[in-house]
Amino acid sequence: MISNKTIILGITGSIAAYKATEIASQLTQAGVEVNVIMTKEAIEFISPVTFRAITGKPVVTEMFDLASEFSIEHISLAKAADIVIIAPATANIIAKLAAGIADGMLCCTVLATKAPVLIAPAMETNMYNNPATQDNLSKLKARNFVIIAPATGRLASGKEGLGRLADINDIIGSIRQVLGRGGDLADKDIVVTAGGTQEPIDPVRYISNRSSGKMGYALAEAARDRGAKVTLITAPTSLPEPVGINVVKVNTAQEMRQAVENAAPQADVLIMAAAVADYRPTKAAKDKIKKVEAGLTLEMECTPDILGSIKGNFIKVGFAAESSNLVENAREKLKQKRLDFIVANDITASDSGFGTDTNQVTIIDHEGKIDDLPLLPKREVADKVLDRVVEFLSKS
Ligand SMILES: Cc1cc2nc3c(=O)[nH]c(=O)nc-3n(C[C@H](O)[C@H](O)[C@H](O)COP(=O)(O)O)c2cc1C
Repeated sequence: MISNKTIILGITGSIAAYKATEIASQLTQAGVEVNVIMTKEAIEFISPVTFRAITGKPVVTEMFDLASEFSIEHISLAKAADIVIIAPATANIIAKLAAGIADGMLCCTVLATKAPVLIAPAMETNMYNNPATQDNLSKLKARNFVIIAPATGRLASGKEGLGRLADINDIIGSIRQVLGRGGDLADKDIVVTAGGTQEPIDPVRYISNRSSGKMGYALAEAARDRGAKVTLITAPTSLPEPVGINVVKVNTAQEMRQAVENAAPQADVLIMAAAVADYRPTKAAKDKIKKVEAGLTLEMECTPDILGSIKGNFIKVGFAAESSNLVENAREKLKQKRLDFIVANDITASDSGFGTDTNQVTIIDHEGKIDDLPLLPKREVADKVLDRVVEFLSKS
């Protein structure tokens, strides 16, 4: 959980400096105390006033600003930080840090801190690929700095190439992951499935369901942020690929089964949040089926029962989306599939179930304990589910 954490956000003189506003805003909204340090060059690109307003905290720009709450207190700021992130990081700051140069408040703070330091480079492709920059990044990596690789895309020069500041979601994800190290799921291997499988009818059509994958992705991210090593086996979704997670993409129930079987032997926990198709066309047509007046009858067969058939020494958690008799149906599934617990959600309730950002679930365990949760954002549901996982792990 990142609320109540203290972060130093270092901003340097890159054209991408404006993007740091979004990082500051998202972290502040998540309850993090954000202390911004800007280099002299960074304030040529964006005003400290913006960050003052976003974070509600004074912004440090000078080493010897006696009016500042943090004047010559780089040590105390560095000590208080749970994490330091420099985004965007110029070639210049990367070179200074690699050389250990104590020039300016940001360099001094990084030298003084014991907190993990994350670096998100942003620069022109040639600057990034230059052996000097690459050597400097390698040195920082060897000193346990976390480098958030830049993306490929449009650069300030107008050219396309490598060097664009990483996606803000990836930067926030990396911060969450680093803060989660040593959490209550540290070193646990957790496999999560997500999304609705697609069962082909012909080369262009398939049968699927309304699953958005949001619940599974929320579980995978929440587990990552509690220190787990996460494998996310996902059917197609429109969600961005989360950072710090081993993502395995599948289409069909059969492919999902194979991926789960590959991942399960190492797993401590298996959480099956995917909506796996129950039926698939017996045979997918090789060519596109033509429209005919007589209509079309499809012959369907059952897909493999992944949840029921998978066995191993792991905590097994299932999901049940029900439109009637929620508790009875979920209990039946719990027994049949030999689960440790099941998360049942009533898909007829408003704002709950497929595609929504919230979910109202009931957790039923194999001892018969029933826990009715209120309507919550999927991320909070994920944490409640993981609380139960932690309980089960402590008993196993
Ligand atoms: C318009 C403009 C854009 C720049 N963008 C970048 C950039 O994206 N990445 C980079 O490494 N340097 C960039 N520079 C060069 C840095 O601003 C320069 O190296 C500066 O000394 C960095 O200082 P700092 O690292 O202390 O913030 C840019 C310079 C200008 C004038």
